[in-house]
Amino acid sequence: MIVLCTGCRSGFGLLIAETAARAGHTVYAGLRDLATKDELMARSKGLDVRPVQLDVVDPAQREAAVAAIVEEHGRIDALVNNAGIALGGFQEQIAEDELRRMFDVNVFAPFALTKLCLPHMRAQRSGVVINVTSMAGRQAMPGLGGYAGSKFALEGMTEALRHELRPFGVRVVLVEPGPYKTDIFGRNRRVAAASARPDDPYAEYQANMERLVEKMEAKMGDPQEVADLVVALLEEPRPRLRYPLGPGVNARLWARRLLPFEGVEQIVKRIVGF
Ligand SMILES: NC(=O)c1ccc[n+]([C@@H]2O[C@H](COP(=O)([O-])OP(=O)(O)OC[C@H]3O[C@@H](n4cnc5c(N)ncnc54)[C@H](OP(=O)(O)O)[C@@H]3O)[C@@H](O)[C@H]2O)c1
Repeated sequence: MIVLCTGCRSGFGLLIAETAARAGHTVYAGLRDLATKDELMARSKGLDVRPVQLDVVDPAQREAAVAAIVEEHGRIDALVNNAGIALGGFQEQIAEDELRRMFDVNVFAPFALTKLCLPHMRAQRSGVVINVTSMAGRQAMPGLGGYAGSKFALEGMTEALRHELRPFGVRVVLVEPGPYKTDIFGRNRRVAAASARPDDPYAEYQANMERLVEKMEAKMGDPQEVADLVVALLEEPRPRLRYPLGPGVNARLWARRLLPFEGVEQIVKRIVGF
């Protein structure tokens, strides 16, 4: 298959590119900055991984990436919208442009990239779009509301897209990871600028949340699990819409299903200590 995956410098994207190529696919591995391709190249020696300049918020780069693939192969079989950013912060602390920037990467970019691929997939009457959302797209936690908003948005659009593309034989899938150890919690960790103010009214609340994340870090999953799932889904003829996976995810979904929101609220209150 001819696969385009975004955000392949680190984390899931890096592993998806390598794993998909090991499974025999030709992988166009999108990088926000081609100068960061070293690890990707080191891992994919001898494999058909082709790094491609693709800052997903740049319309010209999106068009060039898809056009180059279609010119070379006459087709595109899979799009994995994996690139994403998170922003920690309580909503009162988040600046509008910080929120917009996150929505640009997490919502508008996958929307636009999918639009570029669909004419080719519809013409082929085959193809798969895999959108990496998050458990945060199913359940919103305090201090991560902006991120949850972006993932809820992508969840809703993907659900509709699944209906829209069924008649054309194009599969649409959501992968919803819980916490996994990737650069999103390290090199790419972002928090709202205003959260660093000394008079911040959420300081104590925030300290609790940070302790919680530290505790969670010991229990985070191995991102290879997500890559293996995504690669298996490339060739799944009748995929479900949603694939939640990761530590603690089943318990969260069960609680959500069985309890009224007020019950979930009590659990969250106990977990975050406020
Ligand atoms: N790790 C988790 O626990 C977790 C859980 C649920 C969902 N997710 C989702 O999984 C996806 C992958 O994240 P990850 O955990 O693997 O984190 P990561 O290691 O930080 O990887 C994110 C990737 O996205 C790239 N990216 C960011 N902005 C981009 C842009 N404008 N254009 C192109 N690429 C861009 C990053 O490139 P640069 O580093 O060069 O900016 C990086 O390669 C994201 O959508 C994230 O929301 C992660």
